[in-house]
Amino acid sequence: MQLPTDVRITEVGPRDGLQNEPQNLPTAHKIDLIRQLAAAGCKEVEATAFVSPKAIPNLADAAEVMRGTAGLGITRFALIPNAKGYGRALDAGADGITLVMSATDSHNRKNLNQTVAESMAELAPLAARARDDGLAARLSISMVFGCPFEGDPGLERIRAIVDRMAGHGFTRIGLCDTIGIASPQQVHDRVSRLVQEFAGLEFELHFHDTYGRGLANVLAGLEAGVTRFDSCVGGLGGCPFAPGATGNIATEDLVSMLDASGVRTGVDLDGLLAASDFLDAQLDTRIQSNRWQVHNAQRQLRKAA
Ligand code: COA
Ligand code: ZN
Repeated sequence: MQLPTDVRITEVGPRDGLQNEPQNLPTAHKIDLIRQLAAAGCKEVEATAFVSPKAIPNLADAAEVMRGTAGLGITRFALIPNAKGYGRALDAGADGITLVMSATDSHNRKNLNQTVAESMAELAPLAARARDDGLAARLSISMVFGCPFEGDPGLERIRAIVDRMAGHGFTRIGLCDTIGIASPQQVHDRVSRLVQEFAGLEFELHFHDTYGRGLANVLAGLEAGVTRFDSCVGGLGGCPFAPGATGNIATEDLVSMLDASGVRTGVDLDGLLAASDFLDAQLDTRIQSNRWQVHNAQRQLRKAA
């Protein structure tokens, strides 16, 4: 196989992982989690979201989380849906913004109460603002490989969004499989085409493991030439506005697979497992990562011995 020597991971646990959990972590524990992820070598962490607290009550403490995690030497992204979110993220000291929109009108309406065209119009000027304000910026497109309401949006719709937003200065574009429906062949075909057509852009992939295809899709993405991936400590996560959506690919599974394949990530597996131990202790949710399950079983055996 032709694998890259290095892969860059954006850890989305504090945002995607926690946004839909039945239990909300106290703010101090969210800050602690981000510190642990930084200590494990995560260079980019999506720390929170500046969205309506009515839409995502768990992340209503976004400003406190941002302020509490300054100075860690990492890039803390904040997910934002609109210009209001941009202002809040900037005030709170975010280092980067993830601008979110969907490929389909039906999901975009449920998630953001806007059409795709309205979201593009609102988000487009924020690329230039982020550049002026010195913030890293990535555009994140949900439902690129399938939508629970409309099925596969098809390559043309994705290409049109990418083309338009690249024209406004976005250079980092996330292709997101929010409902985990993508298949390796589809990822390979779609992403290869986009990578070839938009050679100046940096694509990143965001997979959920709903159908157990997450890591297979990572391999398909690597084959297509992508070297940036989102993943979530403990494999938590899911979008409350996408029925049936479950966890992201687990960062510890991604790092474990890449480590074993000789691909560097700069992230320390033991540090990630410790962060998942912390989440396991704080939340009732089952940690959704194969690597952590092994780690936990070995620990139980050692205790019993
Ligand atoms: N942060 C905080 N509050 C916000 C906000 C933001 N980014 N954007 C809007 N609001 C507030 C408005 O000020 C207004 O407050 P008020 O009722 O006190 O006057 C209220 O939300 C409604 O504003 P409106 O512009 O009519 O928004 P809406 O009701 O159409 O909701 C979004 C649109 C985008 C704000 C909302 O759907 C949202 O936050 N979605 C995010 C969903 C999400 O995070 N999904 C998971 C990640 S993909
Ligand atoms: Zn997600």
